[in-house]
Amino acid sequence: MLIDGYGRTVNYLRISVTERCNFRCQYCMPEKPFSWVPKENLLSFEELFLFVKVAIDEGVTKIRLTGGEPLLREDLDTFIKMISDYKPDIDLALTTNGYLLPETAQRLKDAGLKRVNISLDSLKAETAAKIAGRDVLDRVLKGIEKALEVGLKVKINMVPLKGINDDEILDILEYCKVRNIKVRFIEYMENRHASQALRGMHGKEILAKVKQGHTIKALGREGASPSFNYLLEDGTEFGLIDPHKHDFCENCNRIRLTAEGNLIPCLYFDEAMSIAEAIKEGDIEKAAGVLAQVLKDKPKENRWNEEESGKAQETSARAFYETGG
Ligand code: GTP
Ligand code: 5AD
Ligand code: SF4
Repeated sequence: MLIDGYGRTVNYLRISVTERCNFRCQYCMPEKPFSWVPKENLLSFEELFLFVKVAIDEGVTKIRLTGGEPLLREDLDTFIKMISDYKPDIDLALTTNGYLLPETAQRLKDAGLKRVNISLDSLKAETAAKIAGRDVLDRVLKGIEKALEVGLKVKINMVPLKGINDDEILDILEYCKVRNIKVRFIEYMENRHASQALRGMHGKEILAKVKQGHTIKALGREGASPSFNYLLEDGTEFGLIDPHKHDFCENCNRIRLTAEGNLIPCLYFDEAMSIAEAIKEGDIEKAAGVLAQVLKDKPKENRWNEEESGKAQETSARAFYETGG
């Protein structure tokens, strides 16, 4: 079992397979082009899998593949199959912008993928394009339909932004309700790479919008998830991810691995340790040692609450597109 310095059990590994992305979401990426990590610095799927086996053997029961946009990494289904064959009962999920799902969903499902979380910030083509920096809506909606059709379990992530898509909270909720999909509204997390003009919505403001159309009942957190769940009058469930409150840190069960081999104990802070050398040497014990150190160093909680009040200045220089959020 993997236990961190605060006694929390870590059983969830998020692997960012590439930092590249075909979108330029305002809350994640800068507008101007920038240089990517050279391809030769990326760990191959075989190398990543060496670490995955260590993590599974030590007690990881949930793996999520993220990016950037993970579907930009060629043959992602082969990596999914490696993991699924090694531990068929693993909770194996993907977080994607959905753009490439129309042509990949079936292969992913066949390879052993169980769940997919898809970003959907707007149902208006123009607004979706404004947020993502590309005309994306049509393909994203097709991607969602395809994922449902092939039998993947789907969740939707929406980041409400003031003056941009805050008028669509009820529409997105309705879109998900009729398809029996769970939506999670996510508080915008301030970071250095996002457009500095953005203003996120506080959890309370998001809930106030939902209450304009529904009566809601608080259910509580689902295990170690950052999502706090609510029930609508007709039994539909939705979630609110509110990092500014950060009470979910108490039960944080996750670590992150980047495509370059950096193990990250917390999204908010810069700290990371590389397993790349150990993996390239095929030294599994050394990799397990790095993992143990990262667990020991895992911080108690993030500081987005202080960010909001203008106190904190520590938000990681690492971009969300490196870690997949
Ligand atoms: P499920 O396994 O379906 O519960 O998904 P998930 O919520 O773990 O994954 P997803 O990639 O869909 O993440 C949803 C949102 O939660 C993203 O905006 C993430 O950045 C955010 N998130 C996930 N883990 C953490 C965390 O440890 N800290 C903070 N602050 N945000 C997180
Ligand atoms: N704040 C909140 N959520 C974010 N995401 C990306 N950047 C941010 C941010 N700054 C979300 C995306 C995606 C998930 C992985 O993270 O919308 O759904
Ligand atoms: Fe790409 Fe996801 Fe970042 Fe949008 S949030 S730019 S889809 S990595």
